[in-house]
Amino acid sequence: MSNSVPSINDREFNQFKSWIYKRAGINLTPAKKSLVAGRLYKRLKHYDIPSYGDYFKMIMDEGNKNELQWALDLLTTNETYFYREPNHFDFLVKHIIPTVSASGQFRIWSAASSSGEEAYTIAMMLMEKMGDGNWSVFGSDISEQILSHARRAQFPLVKARNLPEMLLRKYCLKGVGNKEGFLMVQSALRSKVDFKNINLIERIPNVGLFDVIFLRNVMIYFDTATKQKVMQNLLPHLKPGGYFIISHSESLNGVCDALKLVSPSIYQKS
Ligand SMILES: C[S@@+](CC[C@H](N)C(=O)[O-])C[C@H]1O[C@@H](n2cnc3c(N)ncnc32)[C@H](O)[C@@H]1O
Repeated sequence: MSNSVPSINDREFNQFKSWIYKRAGINLTPAKKSLVAGRLYKRLKHYDIPSYGDYFKMIMDEGNKNELQWALDLLTTNETYFYREPNHFDFLVKHIIPTVSASGQFRIWSAASSSGEEAYTIAMMLMEKMGDGNWSVFGSDISEQILSHARRAQFPLVKARNLPEMLLRKYCLKGVGNKEGFLMVQSALRSKVDFKNINLIERIPNVGLFDVIFLRNVMIYFDTATKQKVMQNLLPHLKPGGYFIISHSESLNGVCDALKLVSPSIYQKS
């Protein structure tokens, strides 16, 4: 098999498209054909399988649960970094944290956390303002592989290039030797952050109630019906008065009218 990526035909593409829609709610448009081929080709090469159709057949076989997870991991987009869309963290620091009562636990959910940079950034804000108090951050994602990165808490330094230097110095250790070029999130911060595999389009396990839910840069992959379902699944886990934060490039128009917009891309439950 040559190194150039063979194209995926319409029938093969539609097989993966239907499967990933059913499994994760991700809506692959035809514009994603070469991206899908490029990502899956690694597995074809790995198994020396001649076509995407044969690979699809293989992952659907009963004994191939691991390979299903692998294909899922390849077809999800995990791009993330520390201190992404800083306005949200400013809002958290200036408008949410000052209202937190001293009694009771303050909990934030980074839903679709990817490798955890969002969850650890939130934890830095909370540690700065609330110290080692009664707070915790919960991160979740559908991809088990990406969650293992999140739990390891080691990141290429480039992922922190937007993070204020002071926070980088205070909460991250600089890798040396074979960890050169990486940072490790400090253990006091790691101990406040937990990760779990959760599929947002399925019934949400018993995760309790949250004061703030971040759901950023994932709904762009969903169609309106899936967005509505995800909101129905998540809203019962937001406390009355709690905040719901989406990306600046996303919108809840026509998706959910149970929340009040309080600042661009920041909503509140009444
Ligand atoms: C682009 S990342 C967003 C990371 C982070 N929230 C941010 O804004 O930087 C999108 C993540 O959504 C996850 N994802 C996609 N479909 C999902 C689903 N149905 N349930 C849970 N997570 C999902 C992907 O695995 C991926 O890690």
